[in-house]
Amino acid sequence: MIRIRRRLPRSTLVPYLEQNYILSGIPLAYVRDIGFLRASERKEITTRKESKVRTIYKSKNQSLIQGDALEVLPRLCRRGEKFHAVITDPPYSSGGLHMSTRAAATSSKYQSSDAKKKHPDFLGDNRDQRSYLAWSTMWLSYCHELLVDRGIVCLFSDWRQLPTVSDALQGAGFIWQGIASWDKVNARPKLGGFRQQCEFIVWGSKGKSPGVGTSLPGSFRISLVSGAKRVHAAQKPVELISEVCRCTMHHDEPKILDPFAGSGTTLLAARSHGIQAVGVEQSPEIAALAVNRLKN
Ligand SMILES: C[S@@+](CC[C@H](N)C(=O)[O-])C[C@H]1O[C@@H](n2cnc3c(N)ncnc32)[C@H](O)[C@@H]1O
Repeated sequence: MIRIRRRLPRSTLVPYLEQNYILSGIPLAYVRDIGFLRASERKEITTRKESKVRTIYKSKNQSLIQGDALEVLPRLCRRGEKFHAVITDPPYSSGGLHMSTRAAATSSKYQSSDAKKKHPDFLGDNRDQRSYLAWSTMWLSYCHELLVDRGIVCLFSDWRQLPTVSDALQGAGFIWQGIASWDKVNARPKLGGFRQQCEFIVWGSKGKSPGVGTSLPGSFRISLVSGAKRVHAAQKPVELISEVCRCTMHHDEPKILDPFAGSGTTLLAARSHGIQAVGVEQSPEIAALAVNRLKN
């Protein structure tokens, strides 16, 4: 494993490095491979200016930063921030088997065309498998730096991305500790096969596992959020994330990070336990939904 902490000679540069990202934990060979990102993605990355990063919600224990996780996380690292757990539900980039369907807007991938209420499109859900692995390894590497020793990462994934996510977790330096399942109760029927009724929580630790604290169940059966309570296409139930937050409760003053906060479910769940949490959400529209939930 080679740690890259400075600019490399131009011949070996790949778009991410031109922006001086710290790609700790990613093998050099792999970094070179990022060159095979789609031309449109490469263009976007090389020409991208630093986007606006701002804290749009702050209360005693919760704050929400609007911005790209890949810009916000290094800033938190530079400020020396530390967290006891990363609990997050990143975009899965999974809906649709082929590139054209995967590239579709989330509102058409995850909602039926006759849905009464359309949820806003969320970002980052159209990477192919290899760029998803590279991207996940990058943001997880920052999370690794931001965690205390023996801190925990809990990462949501679906069945299709499960192998990629566990690779990324380990590529970023975590010890992969296992998988818990979330039984969503409802799922589309799959004639002649099994319903995709579960999503998964891939979890790992920075160094050894904590070895103290609450022993959590390995599976959760909690219904999907429906009706007026649902504001985000990929919203997780607060009860589910509240259960996951219990993994930090042996600390005196636990602090949780969610780099992909969506409609703010992790912040709400942390608040229900009186735990400090910082969320990051790139989409201004979705960040506004989170603020709305946090204020009500
Ligand atoms: C699966 S959703 C999270 C949903 C959340 N668990 C909830 O209950 O509302 C992932 C979120 O990450 C956001 N996102 C995608 N790319 C991002 C990035 N680079 N930085 C920060 N947020 C990002 C998306 O806009 C989306 O809202």
